[in-house]
Amino acid sequence: MRAGVVVWAEGTTVRFRIAGGFRAERGMLLKVEDRGRRFILRVYDFRPESLLSQAEVAMLSSRAQRGERVELYEKELRLYDTALATIVAQVDEDGAAHGPTSVPPLFAPVETLERGDLDALKLDTGDLPLGVVRVGHRPGDVEVSLDGARVIPHHVLVAGSTGAGKSNLGRVLAASVLHSGRYSIVVFDCESEYLTGGGPGSMGLAHLPYSEERLFLVSNRASRPGRLRVRVSVDGVAVERSILAHPLKMSLTRLKPWDFAMTGEFTGPQEELLWMAYKTFGDEWVSTLLGMDGRGLYQRLGRMSSVNTINVTRRKLRRLVGDGEVFCEDCDYDLAGAVLSMAAKGRVIVVETPFASEGEEKLLATVIAGRLFRAYEKMRKELPEKWGELPPVLVMVEEAHRYLSKTALSSPGEVRENIFSIIAKRGRKYKVGGLYITQMPGELMETIIRQALTKIVLPLPTRPDYEKVIGYSPYLDEAEQEIKTLDRGEALVVSPPSGLRFAVPIKVYRFEDYARRLIALEEEAVVRASASGG
Ligand SMILES: Nc1ncnc2c1ncn2[C@@H]1O[C@H](COP(=O)(O)OP(=O)(O)OP(=O)(O)O)[C@@H](O)[C@H]1O
Ligand SMILES: [Mg+2]
Repeated sequence: MRAGVVVWAEGTTVRFRIAGGFRAERGMLLKVEDRGRRFILRVYDFRPESLLSQAEVAMLSSRAQRGERVELYEKELRLYDTALATIVAQVDEDGAAHGPTSVPPLFAPVETLERGDLDALKLDTGDLPLGVVRVGHRPGDVEVSLDGARVIPHHVLVAGSTGAGKSNLGRVLAASVLHSGRYSIVVFDCESEYLTGGGPGSMGLAHLPYSEERLFLVSNRASRPGRLRVRVSVDGVAVERSILAHPLKMSLTRLKPWDFAMTGEFTGPQEELLWMAYKTFGDEWVSTLLGMDGRGLYQRLGRMSSVNTINVTRRKLRRLVGDGEVFCEDCDYDLAGAVLSMAAKGRVIVVETPFASEGEEKLLATVIAGRLFRAYEKMRKELPEKWGELPPVLVMVEEAHRYLSKTALSSPGEVRENIFSIIAKRGRKYKVGGLYITQMPGELMETIIRQALTKIVLPLPTRPDYEKVIGYSPYLDEAEQEIKTLDRGEALVVSPPSGLRFAVPIKVYRFEDYARRLIALEEEAVVRASASGG
């Protein structure tokens, strides 16, 4: 379908006159064909073209205001709408798509995309589907997916305001990982949205048949490690799944000083104190630090640390460890070890923390992410062949600004590291990636935004937030207007590791629709497997 005619082309920008009757929309993908080459364009703004004199505008507008008919002599020639578009890709005669190396000629026709054009862009060659390509606000029929093996180690940033659809996207991605079976993902789920869905009518990972094999739930729904029966309803039919689960409990004695240091909350002298206590009191070091009074500790530690440092450190420790609900003194659970062994098998690990305090949540996420990172790092250094067999693991943090903001990572005069900033900087080498979800990307450290090569931008209307994301990402330069006007569940995806080298407009699957499709596929596969197994 004809969308218009090119009236200007310069650099990577094309301006075209919009054909009468055609409705161009921001974010729309279009094409220009010229001598075997196809230029794929993305509309980013509009500009009326007017050759009317000021006197004419004044006269005509005043007539219009009085309700009189406005007739314009040679209107077609003197007043028309144009759209501005960026050339996102060039498809050569051999079908290969790459960045633009030339521009389309003036007066070449601009047309809507057909299936073949979208196929040439190779949006669906990955193994982790997210949704479908979007034409304006309408979903198209080509799937958009990420290539897990390449995307995971290079981190993913998901940004969107409240209610933009971040958790829905998180569930879609977790379901894609679960379905593929090739990767691991650890989800810290503070709202209990992932297992069975967030509310009436919504669905979760337990709805998928493969959850029996590939889901590992850490939750107080489980009273001891083992299989847990989870009841879900698939379109009115009750189904019971047997899910591998572990209580949300971890023995205090298994915590080491570096688990606390990796939260980034302790200063140099405070960290020294943690190590001193560990050397002096052994496995009971945390409970001793918390149980004994400041003066007594000062004596026991040979007066090597000031009473003030001791008291401040104890306060921080107490906040992180909480009241014993998660980090318990009289249990022997090695939760981080259990998560690690599941991650090594390519599982989706959901850690439900609806009642944990902010401190407990932070320590838990730090301990688990730290254990994964160190194990993968050690394996790569000591047993590279075994490391080669480990699935890439993605650690998902919602509210990432809480861990990775400038204020969280620095105090006067020093920049601190925590496990998530370390993963962002060094995880790539070891196949450990971060999935950072935030509604306030403006607060994040620039390095985090830059290191996350895959970016999924949901509606984000606030200037400091979208400016930060645009400023540190390739291919988003002209996307400001669109990011501001996206609807919930609509996104722009940029993922050079997946070969998506322009801002791809997508409609993220609604989790429930996507889950229904996966359920059908997985049920069929389960039936086939049991038939061939005898
Ligand atoms: N891709 C989508 N298609 C259809 N509906 C969606 C989509 N994404 C989200 N929604 C709906 O929008 C609502 C909000 O989604 P979601 O909870 O994922 O947002 P959020 O960004 O996580 O919000 P919050 O900031 O409150 O955590 C939900 O009711 C969800 O069903
Ligand atoms: Mg959410």
